[in-house]
Amino acid sequence: MKKSSMLMTTIGVLAATSCATAQPSLKDAFKDKFLVGAALNESQFTEQNAAQAALVKQQFNTITAENVMKWEKIHPTPDKFDFGPAVRFVEFGTNNGMVIIGHTLVWHSQTPAWVFADGKGGPADRATLLARMSNHIHTVVSRYKGRVKGWDVVNEALNEDGSLRPSPWLKIIGEDYLVKAFEFAHAADPDAELYYNDFSLENEPKRDGAVRLVKKLQAAGVRVHGIGTQTHAKMDWPSPELVDDTLTAFGKLGVKVMITELDIDLLPARSRDRSADVSRRDTADPALNPYPNGLPDSMQQALAKRYGEIFAVYAKHADKISRVTFWGVTDGDSWLNNWPIRGRTSYPLPFDRTGRPKPAFTEILKAAAEPSRLD
Ligand code: G3I
Repeated sequence: MKKSSMLMTTIGVLAATSCATAQPSLKDAFKDKFLVGAALNESQFTEQNAAQAALVKQQFNTITAENVMKWEKIHPTPDKFDFGPAVRFVEFGTNNGMVIIGHTLVWHSQTPAWVFADGKGGPADRATLLARMSNHIHTVVSRYKGRVKGWDVVNEALNEDGSLRPSPWLKIIGEDYLVKAFEFAHAADPDAELYYNDFSLENEPKRDGAVRLVKKLQAAGVRVHGIGTQTHAKMDWPSPELVDDTLTAFGKLGVKVMITELDIDLLPARSRDRSADVSRRDTADPALNPYPNGLPDSMQQALAKRYGEIFAVYAKHADKISRVTFWGVTDGDSWLNNWPIRGRTSYPLPFDRTGRPKPAFTEILKAAAEPSRLD
């Protein structure tokens, strides 16, 4: 090769390398504090969307299944398990050395109706439902034994006032469905971490309910390794003080504390309802979709500031937080484009629709570098 073309090749390689490494990563910025991850959809973990798959590899060291491990997807009919997409999800995480989180085993939502039915038009009885729960958990958890690091064993079991949600699980089995779910999961993979996961836990009544729930599991001798606060946040909720109080309260439980589904919804809402209940639906209204063609800079900066203040609290509590997971990778694939109103243009994540980091990304990185801002 001529000297001049060798030089050009070298420059090309250097340029490509510096492009690939120029952008700092969330996982590196927080490597001494906690894992940073994202919930993935199928096009990302199958690498059909190659750009987003590359972004995930560059930025995150833990991944959660956004949908493919939910009961309705993985176990749609009594005798049929469909592991196809979940296998691809686990392969992606394994191949890239990521901590893999399974979501979710026992939930009232996205669970097929047959699970709770007797097949004759009535509800299943306690023994039948316990047997179905046991079969489901054993089959799914043991399949990924040693590869899925932790499971959201029970999801969203609480009402906003901290009492137990009257789900079919509670109504048919009784309160010990919680203990049973954790026992079945532990038996299926004794080395897996087992978590309780819920939303709006920053609100005091629900937070207290979650503390009671975890303490009851611990008193029953059940292995519970972590509590996940989803944190589907708004611009004005939860306040940094609420986040601070919640992490302090959960830190006293002696289990890992995780932020499991972080995003910040800046779109206007019809009601002041803060819940992230997936069953909530509002009717479309152009006034509630004000940025269909892009986010004004003032809003972009406000979102960045909001992410910065939340991550400053996370950095302060880094000793008890094991993981912070965003619920999605880029704005375009967030569930918030379709909830509680379908077809809106939402901006809840640190990466824009093209995968470029937003000002929020920069503010998050600053919180990693200046953890003492709140001390
Ligand atoms: O895959 C089908 C597609 O084939 C079909 O054409 C389309 C028509 O609506 O639906 C697609 O499924 C949707 C699925 O997301 C994948 O996009 C479901 O309708 C939709 O209900 C489902 O929403 C998910 C929701 O949970 C319910 O399972 C969201 O993506 C997911 O982000 C959201 O995640 C939940 C957590 O599991 C628990 N905590 C709250 C969080 C946000 O709601």
